[in-house]
Amino acid sequence: MELIFATHNPNKIKEIRQLLPKHIRLISLNDINCTRSIPETADTLKGNAKLKADFITTTYNKPCFADDTGLLVNSLNGAPGVFSARYAGPKNDANANMDKLLQNLEGKKDRTACFQTVIALNIKGETIFFEGEVQGEIIKEKKGGKGFGYDPIFKPKGFNGTFAELPLETKNKIGHRGKAFSKLIDYLGRVTPQEKKES
Ligand code: IMP
Repeated sequence: MELIFATHNPNKIKEIRQLLPKHIRLISLNDINCTRSIPETADTLKGNAKLKADFITTTYNKPCFADDTGLLVNSLNGAPGVFSARYAGPKNDANANMDKLLQNLEGKKDRTACFQTVIALNIKGETIFFEGEVQGEIIKEKKGGKGFGYDPIFKPKGFNGTFAELPLETKNKIGHRGKAFSKLIDYLGRVTPQEKKES
């Protein structure tokens, strides 16, 4: 079965391609020469994941999934949330985003936060959602050189280092996206061969 992952991010494709059951052939947006920018105008992660998946399914008429992730900070009423990528402006500049967040948290006692990922899978005429979450806190200065986005300031609960200090395998195991992906992979692995042909 061919399954489109609605992303241009080669790291995400590589990560999940290794984990998928062999009967599923994962196709990226680059593979199908899709350079169009996909709308992300919903006000929830779930809404955006569905918008992206629906856009691809409607355009290419194939099974497809899309993910959307946000960092939700409790004392900021869940910000940056759905706006995580463009918190400090349209460029998705990770350093500027972190600086803005650190500034907005100055003087706040509660620095607890969580990452949430939602995946929307369009298959057999319906949409199925898979979610993953990791709790933690925003530390006061950036630490570590691994990862991307807000990793240098996010310390997962129960660990001494930030996501940017922990090995990638650890992040994938305890992290938001890893948890959501493993639920998706479990589901795809349970789909019977007959159902696969029908999809
Ligand atoms: P996306 O929906 O996966 O593109 O994520 C939106 C934004 O959330 C990214 O541009 C990053 O700023 C942030 N983000 C998503 N996943 C992570 C992560 O694993 N670590 C740090 N930041 C992340």
